[in-house]
Amino acid sequence: MLPPMTTRRDFLSRSAMTAASLSAITQAPAQQSQTAEGIKQLPPPKKPVIVTRHTGDNSVDEAYKMLLDGTDTLDACNHICLAREDDPNDHSVGYGGLPNEDGFVELDACCMHGPTRAAGSVGAIQNIRHACLVSRLVMERTGHVMLTGKGAEHLAVMHGLKREDMLTDDARKMWLLWKESRTSQNFWGPPMLAPGGKSANPAPELHPQKHSMIPRHPGLEWADEIRTRSQQLTAMAIDLGIPERKRAFAVEQMLWPTTGTIHVSCVNTKGEMSGATTTSGQAFKIAGRLGDSPIIGAGCYTDQDIGSAGATGSGEENIKVAGAHTIVDCMRQGMSPKEAGLEALRRIVRNYNGDMAKIRYLDMIYYIVRKDGAYAGVSLWSTTANGTPKVFSVHDGQYRVENCAWLLEGTTTN
Ligand code: GLY
Repeated sequence: MLPPMTTRRDFLSRSAMTAASLSAITQAPAQQSQTAEGIKQLPPPKKPVIVTRHTGDNSVDEAYKMLLDGTDTLDACNHICLAREDDPNDHSVGYGGLPNEDGFVELDACCMHGPTRAAGSVGAIQNIRHACLVSRLVMERTGHVMLTGKGAEHLAVMHGLKREDMLTDDARKMWLLWKESRTSQNFWGPPMLAPGGKSANPAPELHPQKHSMIPRHPGLEWADEIRTRSQQLTAMAIDLGIPERKRAFAVEQMLWPTTGTIHVSCVNTKGEMSGATTTSGQAFKIAGRLGDSPIIGAGCYTDQDIGSAGATGSGEENIKVAGAHTIVDCMRQGMSPKEAGLEALRRIVRNYNGDMAKIRYLDMIYYIVRKDGAYAGVSLWSTTANGTPKVFSVHDGQYRVENCAWLLEGTTTN
């Protein structure tokens, strides 16, 4: 039966399209195997290689030992993800991740296993700490590739993962700061009669970055506004009891809510590869928002013939260029990991026609490893907001933090 509102003409033209697509698909294998043949000539590396975000823990070293011992490459990736998901002081992932605008932590993750060419993904899952394991459950224990929300939570619980509250005290206070600092647009925060209570003044104009909470007063430069706003937010953070060591981070999250994440790609000495990505996503996002991390081909992509790549940064932008897949495909065409990463970044810049007034609010790092062990960390910007180089971690027998190659000199939101 035809769907409602479908005319016979629509149906026939759609059928013609389908026939054309089918014929393209049946012609594809010859071309694919030709490409795959070329790539299979890439030798495996002499030593395993892991690329990831700087984690500040021992998990990368431990994962490396796992690879040396012959543990599966996806287990090694997950070992690093699990450590981040367990850390209450990593507010970008797992337990302690910053919540959505309603105060609920929603996690996204995905994984690809090179040797079996399998993939799994989970989006907007609540109450489960290890989103990376749920994405793997989807891959290994279901006929699906992607599950979200309640269904994903149910799958996790039915496979023995325990339900727990993901919102730590620090993350809860940062959420309160977010709610209370939204000028006079809602009723959160101390009442007007309280010292420092909000005034009934209309909300001031906001900074042009749409998520920014910096009001603009006539005649003042943005830099002055940012300084004033930071001071106000710091005072509010003290009032809410946000510990001193987290105050600057909390204020930064109010001004420029970030999308921290962890991605891990690795290859072993047999040339087997995997990739995994896990995140709590954009801080204070709308409930149900999915970024790039659960999107196979954006937040993570592994092709056993070519290499593996993944991303941390502005998820919406990475989805639009299918970043991880773009990188792996550029490597398939002969680009080095660094060139391939820069090409994906150029596509992000192109999507804004090079408009730097907008691009300065974007952020992106790609983590890339090719089947032969060549690797790169490639960043949209050269430095962080405090002027230090953007970095990534690599382990190829020796763990180190390296500066990223970059496309644009400077920093985001400067
Ligand atoms: N890159 C993580 C996110 O946008 O959710």
